[in-house]
Amino acid sequence: MHQPILLSAFIGIASSLRLNAPIANERGFTIAQPGSIKNVVVTSSNTLNSTHHNTLSKTKLHGWNDTISTHSLSLELYNNYNGGPINAYIQGLDSNGAIVFITSNGTLIYPRSNNSSSPIEIKDNLAIPLRPKGQSLTLNITISLTSGRVYFSEGNLRFFMINLGAGDGLVQPSVNNLHDPSASLNWGFIELTFLKNGALYANISYVDFVGLILSMMLSTKNGGTPQITRGLRANAVYDLCEGLFNQTTNDGYLWLAMCVVGKTGDPVRVLSPNYYQRVYAADFEDYWQDYVDTVWEYYSSHTLAIDTQTPLGEVKCQVTNDTLFCDEDNRGYAKPTASDIWGCNSGPFGLQEGDNPVHVAVIPRLCAAFVRSTLLIQGGDVQPRLNSSYHYSVSPTHHYSRLVHELQVDGRGYAFSYDDVNPNGHEDVSGLVSSGNPDTLTVYVGGPPPN
Ligand SMILES: *[C@@H]1O[C@H](CO)[C@@H](O)[C@H](O)[C@H]1NC(C)=O
Ligand SMILES: *[C@@H]1O[C@H](CO)[C@@H](O)[C@H](O)[C@H]1NC(C)=O
Ligand SMILES: *[C@@H]1O[C@H](CO)[C@@H](O)[C@H](O)[C@H]1NC(C)=O
Ligand SMILES: *[C@@H]1O[C@H](CO)[C@@H](O)[C@H](O)[C@H]1NC(C)=O
Ligand SMILES: *[C@@H]1O[C@H](CO)[C@@H](O)[C@H](O)[C@H]1NC(C)=O
Ligand SMILES: *[C@@H]1O[C@H](CO)[C@@H](O)[C@H](O)[C@H]1NC(C)=O
Ligand SMILES: *[C@@H]1O[C@H](CO)[C@@H](O)[C@H](O)[C@H]1NC(C)=O
Ligand SMILES: *[C@@H]1O[C@H](CO)[C@@H](O)[C@H](O)[C@H]1NC(C)=O
Ligand SMILES: *[C@@H]1O[C@H](CO)[C@@H](O)[C@H](O)[C@H]1NC(C)=O
Ligand SMILES: *[C@@H]1O[C@H](CO)[C@@H](O)[C@H](O)[C@H]1NC(C)=O
Repeated sequence: MHQPILLSAFIGIASSLRLNAPIANERGFTIAQPGSIKNVVVTSSNTLNSTHHNTLSKTKLHGWNDTISTHSLSLELYNNYNGGPINAYIQGLDSNGAIVFITSNGTLIYPRSNNSSSPIEIKDNLAIPLRPKGQSLTLNITISLTSGRVYFSEGNLRFFMINLGAGDGLVQPSVNNLHDPSASLNWGFIELTFLKNGALYANISYVDFVGLILSMMLSTKNGGTPQITRGLRANAVYDLCEGLFNQTTNDGYLWLAMCVVGKTGDPVRVLSPNYYQRVYAADFEDYWQDYVDTVWEYYSSHTLAIDTQTPLGEVKCQVTNDTLFCDEDNRGYAKPTASDIWGCNSGPFGLQEGDNPVHVAVIPRLCAAFVRSTLLIQGGDVQPRLNSSYHYSVSPTHHYSRLVHELQVDGRGYAFSYDDVNPNGHEDVSGLVSSGNPDTLTVYVGGPPPN
């Protein structure tokens, strides 16, 4: 089922756009161009680092007592996808810190790097085929898993191992590498940690990208109402691409190129601006410049109050000598660049050793105020104060975050890293479900469960 977004309508508009991206096609979307193992890149964002080298037997049967937990988790994988067959892949670090995959019959696969300093492909069959649409498959997870992920993909994902010196690394599909061997597949993942004491934490995030649509429900052994993260609606990737296309026609910036299309020409994922800039750094370099200059100019003669939402209360800030200084803060804030605003963790938003509690509280609130463009609208001189009705209401703004929020069914799932900043304290907008006594975690693949 495809939304009628009329890809053909986008052809021909290219000449009026700032089309300087080398791989963007004539429509302005970005085309995934999957390559071979030679194109695999090893970065901190797609590598799971282990402190362990997998050297002994490659597979172990379920029941080995060095890894088995006294707790178990029932993991139900529900196929709600209107497309081809879906595979799941369950991976993480076991209780020894070793990289492990769990397969559908309970076999644990410990892939080896064979001391290779370049990625080598894992040849074992790691895929767990889901049942057809409308049916679910239930697995019994009996080992603890940290830094865990459950990937879902239409088609076979490819994973690689590498020797990182101190331990092996698992090289996962990368969203910002257009030549990743899995680049044209429609995939996504949930993150989970299942501790030895039986506690479970699982989350869904849109901070990096939106791919295959996933929702989660967690029931506990204590009973009670299950926790649900519905997240985005089934057609969200198509709708996001259309919304980004609309935005490009409005302001001429290459928002639509954040939409990545696969081999069939259908959108498979949307990159957040923070990831998009790792592919095409130049496209948005000047995007926030005028806004940042205006904010700095305004707050050189006005006071910006930041409510730390801690016992430290409200602090007053003002720009002098091109730097924003806040009372009781150990250091000031230089003007952020576009890259600083997309990531909220560099330049003035980067934490340094010795930063005091005021500084730690100002960073998320100041960055959220930029992302949501509330600093120059009425009431924006106190942060955070304006509720979500006022966010993203003026340009420039973070249109990816705006659109993700518009397409969320239940407001759950971060679209940028400080999405939890809000005037009433920390309203729960995270996509997290957790329990000290979990029973069943159900993952809905391809669309949220009905209300
Ligand atoms: C994993 O190790 C690689 C290579 O040593 C390093 O570049 C990367 O930052 C590490 N990743 C994390 C998440 O620590
Ligand atoms: C497994 O546990 C049993 C009982 O605690 C112990 O006797 C045995 O040596 C363990 N086996 C391994 C392979 O660790
Ligand atoms: C790693 O080494 C083992 C034992 O020498 C060999 O059986 C296996 O095929 C190698 N794996 C890869 C991916 O090269
Ligand atoms: C791999 O490296 C370890 C030390 O890092 C060494 O003990 C082992 O012999 C090496 N294995 C192979 C197959 O080269
Ligand atoms: C379990 O699955 C693994 C991986 O798919 C396979 O290699 C193995 O033969 C299976 N074992 C049994 C007992 O079915
Ligand atoms: C899951 O595995 C554990 C440990 O082997 C076992 O005690 C439990 O009964 C299993 N649960 C189900 C639903 O099969
Ligand atoms: C999401 O889950 C992963 C794995 O458990 C964890 O590392 C990460 O901190 C979690 N994020 C949030 C926002 O809870
Ligand atoms: C894109 O613009 C069209 C025409 O104005 C509108 O109908 C559609 O709802 C917009 N789509 C999104 C996702 O904003
Ligand atoms: C203004 O900022 C510059 C560069 O950060 C610094 O060198 C200079 O000392 C500052 N001047 C005053 C008066 O603080
Ligand atoms: C935001 O605040 C205004 C009043 O300032 C109120 O009318 C509106 O309903 C609020 N919106 C949300 C989403 O809470």
